[in-house]
Amino acid sequence: MKLDLNRRYATKTHANLVPALKRRAKLIPTLRVEGTSLPLTTDHGQLTTDVQFTRKHLLGIRELEAGEITHLLDTAETFREISKRDIKKVPALRGRTVINLFFEPSTRTRTSFEIAAKRLSADAVNVSVSTSSVSKGETLLDTARNLEAMSPDCIVVRHSMAGAPQQLARMGNAPIVNAGDGSHEHPTQALLDALTIREHKGRIEGLKVAIIGDVLHSRVARSNIHLLTKLGASVSIAGPGTLVPAEFGEFVKAGLRVEKRIEDSIEGADVVMVLRIQRERQDAAFFPSMREYAVHYGLRAQHLASAAPDAIVMHPGPINRGVEIASEIADGRSSLILDQVTNGVAVRMAVLYLLAGGSHAGADVDKIEPLKNQAGTGRDNRG
Ligand code: CP
Repeated sequence: MKLDLNRRYATKTHANLVPALKRRAKLIPTLRVEGTSLPLTTDHGQLTTDVQFTRKHLLGIRELEAGEITHLLDTAETFREISKRDIKKVPALRGRTVINLFFEPSTRTRTSFEIAAKRLSADAVNVSVSTSSVSKGETLLDTARNLEAMSPDCIVVRHSMAGAPQQLARMGNAPIVNAGDGSHEHPTQALLDALTIREHKGRIEGLKVAIIGDVLHSRVARSNIHLLTKLGASVSIAGPGTLVPAEFGEFVKAGLRVEKRIEDSIEGADVVMVLRIQRERQDAAFFPSMREYAVHYGLRAQHLASAAPDAIVMHPGPINRGVEIASEIADGRSSLILDQVTNGVAVRMAVLYLLAGGSHAGADVDKIEPLKNQAGTGRDNRG
């Protein structure tokens, strides 16, 4: 029986819902990554049903159903444990090749995709644009075609042009992961943010989330607004009028609040998400000066006084200290900025696993054997 998992089901966390769902589900999927079969349930009582992530690509959050997002998060939660072991490696993607193709700078995303691929035993190849033939004038599509000719199992791409990953997905065969395209979407960032919120709050549904800053240029904000509203959070954004895009009208109809003062957005918030001022995308004067921006929109300790008592503060990085966030907040006890980075590895392991050989291949999930040690004695390398 296929569960008709609608959005409300997918995000319910009530313990009394779980037995009811279990009764309805003939099969609870399991993830066997180390010889141990783990039922895909979470610490929060959420149940992963037979809603799977069966898409070929991960291009954005906008097109995903709540059940698919929950499945990605549950899978990432299962993978999180692997990074805590002494030997942080499982053979799930042995023999697969993941190419990181980054046309924009990145510290967190590129590194964590590489680490994620390696922890799953895939071969990770980083294409450095500055030393590739792109610097000789080769187009994005020609570069991608040539990389495809080497049979990768997944290409992770970051590009300054919105829609670049979609173009590659249309023209090629390999699964494409959008690692950030212009000001459009950054789906794995929203997923790792959601995983971090769920880890600390136990749920997404019903939370009040304030997103502060340069929404106009922020692919992180777009992906987060899609994800958080799909999973039932109440979201408000605040920033200078010049940095709050008109397109967000569609979200306003769906309940998004748009505030001019950050104080109004933060009041009662469970989660305060601060966005980076994107100096590289400021091709016009959206505000008079960084100093003025910091005065009116920089997050400081006094702002958190009106948030929920246990409010958490997040930032996708890299942070501009003293501009959009004061150091005392970035380094303070409410800050989960480094937890976000940690969860980035688990989310990217889940995404690579599902796209490059996991449940994409459906039944293969249950066939993954334990990692053998180097000497081939058959003993687990379990840490
Ligand atoms: N959050 C984020 O995308 O960081 P990087 O630019 O360092 O990848």
